[in-house]
Amino acid sequence: MADEKEAALARLQVLRGELDYHAHRYYVLDQPVIADVEYDRLFRELLELEERFPELVSEDSPSQRVGGAPLEKFATVQHRHAMLSLENAFGEAELRDFEERLLRFLKDTPQLSYVAEPKMDGLAIELVYEQGVLVQGSTRGDGRTGEDITRNLKTIAAVPLRLRGENPPALLEVRGEVFMGSAGFRKLNEERAAAGEPLFANPRNAAAGSVRQLDSRLTARRPLDFYAYGSSDPAQLACATQQELLARLSSLGFKVNPLVRFCPGLAEVIAHYRHLLEIRAGLDYEIDGMVVKVNSLALQERLGNKARTPRWAIACKFPASQATTTLLGVDFQVGRTGAVTPVAILAPVAVGGVTVSRATLHNEEEIKRKDLRIGDRVLVQRAGDVIPEIVQPIVALRTGQEKPVTMPGHCPSCGHGLVHEEGEVALRCVNAHCPAQRLRSLIHFTGKSGMDIEGLGRKVMEQLFTEKLVADIPDIYALQPETLAALDGWAAKSAENAVAAIAASRNVSLARLLSALGIRHVGEVTAALLEERFQTMERLMTASLEELLTVEGIGAQVAASIRDYFDDPAVQQMLARLRQLGVAPGKRLAPQGELPLRGAVLLFTGTLAGFSRDEAKELVKKLGGQVSSSLSRKVTHLVCGDKPGSKLQKAEELGITILDEKGFQQLIS
Ligand code: IVH
Repeated sequence: MADEKEAALARLQVLRGELDYHAHRYYVLDQPVIADVEYDRLFRELLELEERFPELVSEDSPSQRVGGAPLEKFATVQHRHAMLSLENAFGEAELRDFEERLLRFLKDTPQLSYVAEPKMDGLAIELVYEQGVLVQGSTRGDGRTGEDITRNLKTIAAVPLRLRGENPPALLEVRGEVFMGSAGFRKLNEERAAAGEPLFANPRNAAAGSVRQLDSRLTARRPLDFYAYGSSDPAQLACATQQELLARLSSLGFKVNPLVRFCPGLAEVIAHYRHLLEIRAGLDYEIDGMVVKVNSLALQERLGNKARTPRWAIACKFPASQATTTLLGVDFQVGRTGAVTPVAILAPVAVGGVTVSRATLHNEEEIKRKDLRIGDRVLVQRAGDVIPEIVQPIVALRTGQEKPVTMPGHCPSCGHGLVHEEGEVALRCVNAHCPAQRLRSLIHFTGKSGMDIEGLGRKVMEQLFTEKLVADIPDIYALQPETLAALDGWAAKSAENAVAAIAASRNVSLARLLSALGIRHVGEVTAALLEERFQTMERLMTASLEELLTVEGIGAQVAASIRDYFDDPAVQQMLARLRQLGVAPGKRLAPQGELPLRGAVLLFTGTLAGFSRDEAKELVKKLGGQVSSSLSRKVTHLVCGDKPGSKLQKAEELGITILDEKGFQQLIS
């Protein structure tokens, strides 16, 4: 028996090696060297052997590609490095702006080279390889936390289960796009139509739906494909450029899009953009633009990231798809801050693969500027994932029956009079008790950009609000499973899950709670800045206007809005109740290692020779320091470049440490 098992193991190793080799030739290189039947024979032999010796099945065996028993739910995965998204540029002029920004930031770099890549319209994933073996695959999620979809990703033939070549890196995190080719998409939808199943709107939805299947055997049957385009930490591969990185990924066994181009300058980038636009319609997969990346990884590092996007890359989107339809009417929606937004009701029409029946009209001025009338034929457009909009009415098709759009004088929800606030175009309902605003705030609170409480989506919040179970935020934390279970559409299990999800949200970070509260002008980015500076709700609540203003990135309007919010007695009461109900934002994880500039507040004046102002500020923040935009006693160092202004003398009077550029360099080195 032992002998037999040993022989089986030896044979399995040969089979796995061969199957791996042929799968790579077939799926990645598109150059098969054996016939399909031959491959199938080897595969069957492998399956039979593994069935006889289940203990010999390995994580990276090609047999893992067929999927396994369904999961209850996906586990979550913390990305070691955040998965960022990309800023958009529309058209060539905005590409030139991009380069200008780069050159300004880098200051001393006269010429930049780039890599231009098709922007695949699929979904971003991360693959983690340890000692060359695929150990985890995950979705992007919110960028920091994604879902563990390892088993599903293993079913995709273009995803290597094991890296090719000798001496793989100890750890490699590869990023790329899972997508469905157009032919596979059409075939899948035909099959679904024949089976009476709902159709996917476009290949991207089909790909996303397929990799998020709890039953990986279903994923295995979907025609999914994968292109690698980067790594979370290029240092893992010791490359100097994006171009080298892609070549390295290719030699490790990944598919890299053949339409990737090295571009010595922006002119070549623009030429490639035009080329992709031309050939786009003939490709067997959908692309929604081109991604431009600074080629040098050292420069990428210097350029660094903004809150959610890198500075060193941009997505240059293709022009929008358009369609014509009829403007049936205009609805008025009350947002959580009371802004009343007109929304166009359209006769449903397909635009770029998605059915559109509503489009935002932003505000009254927009309607006037475009001269939109109810009954008009209108041109509608959608660019990538951007919300659809009306471009213009088709005036030549007017019959004279069209009616002007009239703005309401009163809030459609509470009937309170509407006002135009100074300097704002939006019409606003200023009734603090307006039910529509309250409901919207509650939906925001539990939603994705708020506390992200599973099971408390828009529909559920509407139900809880109408049933008068939740009138304000603290009410959410007082919900009992029995109360929920008694509601329409609920069962004991779903009620328990919802209450558990609510309970779990009690320990979120301060930043998340702040952005969930929906304080005007405080989004995720500002919330993170506030958390960074004040750490606790108590300290933030008592911060003075002046103190708020010393936070880099917070201006007068935002600071005033924060103070107004916390000065409101109703807010104070609400927060006190939240505290009583156990909502205690967790302490942030301490930053790794001692940051050398923690506690330092730097102010810059004059021009630096070696850094742009932006790069200098970034460096300070990376090292844990703060940058101030005005002189006050909080400032610990004044950095003087060439031609310092009046700040120098004042700083001397205040006894602040003064550094020249060399001193600054020493401080940060
Ligand atoms: S690089 C930090 N390269 O576009 C840079 N992204 O908003 C991160 N995408 O969801 C992305 N093709 O999935 C990069 N060649 C490409 C891409 C690409 C498609 C997607 C990506 C992400 C989105 C960016």
